[in-house]
Amino acid sequence: VTGGADSAGLWPLVPAAAAVDAETVVRALELGSGGREGRPHTVAVMIATVDGRTTVDGRSVGLGCPADRALFRAVRAEADAMLVGAPTLAAERYARLIDTERRAARARKGRAPHPLVVTVSRRLDLDLGAIPVLREPGVDALVFTEADASGDLDEGPALHQMAPGTLTLTGVLEHLARAHGVRSVTCEGGPTLLARLVAEDCLDDLLLTVAPVLLGSVPAAPTLLGPVGLPVPAPLVLADVHRAGEHVFLHYTRRG
Ligand SMILES: NC(=O)c1ccc[n+]([C@@H]2O[C@H](COP(=O)([O-])OP(=O)(O)OC[C@H]3O[C@@H](n4cnc5c(N)ncnc54)[C@H](OP(=O)(O)O)[C@@H]3O)[C@@H](O)[C@H]2O)c1
Repeated sequence: VTGGADSAGLWPLVPAAAAVDAETVVRALELGSGGREGRPHTVAVMIATVDGRTTVDGRSVGLGCPADRALFRAVRAEADAMLVGAPTLAAERYARLIDTERRAARARKGRAPHPLVVTVSRRLDLDLGAIPVLREPGVDALVFTEADASGDLDEGPALHQMAPGTLTLTGVLEHLARAHGVRSVTCEGGPTLLARLVAEDCLDDLLLTVAPVLLGSVPAAPTLLGPVGLPVPAPLVLADVHRAGEHVFLHYTRRG
């Protein structure tokens, strides 16, 4: 416990949160230990305002801080695959997924230099060809869709086409484990994708950074699970709390 009483004895005691260290948080995830029911271990890494909003001006970048960026990059560096919604890939302008040093470290362990980049879109109504990370040299990318897009993707990501009405995240994760040997997945959102993961009970850990700001009701700024409802509430267990300045880092696990 830190803080303590001031000279007048008026300040409450406040619980201490250790300074966040990305490597420590990643170790606690035990990503190598595998997932549940034939799926990879799946971790979501998200940031939200104190009132639960996930974007400022259409992107999450304005909410973050260096420690937050270090955290999601460290999780990426350990994961076999990244699952990201197509709208998020477009909005967040992904590039240079992993630092040179971490790429080399992965290669030394016989792993692909980058995690497999996986996106899902039933309708495929975005121009995936215009998303640079899907064409980045050395990055393998895989798109799951129900749309017929074979003609649109001659280069770049591989396409996994599914019959209409059959694209579920459970199916995607099982396929990644079975066909690609993926044991760990980091999901970087967005909110709709996270809600689908929770609704299908596919989420094992949630790393949520709370940004020290209130946004209020901005209709264009989705909340953590966007507009998607859950069939039942999903209870969580608080595994750890860290901080960096005014940002708080919460590690939740699924209550089994
Ligand atoms: N604060 C943060 O941590 C954070 C993180 C990431 C993104 N963001 C922000 O979030 C926004 C984008 O989020 P978003 O919620 O609009 O989209 P999203 O979560 O990035 O993507 C949702 C994807 O899931 C697909 N989908 C929807 N329902 C599905 C279902 N039942 N089964 C399978 N796939 C399904 C959608 O395509 P179809 O409808 O074609 O299937 C879409 O591609 C951006 O503004 C981004 O900046 C914030």
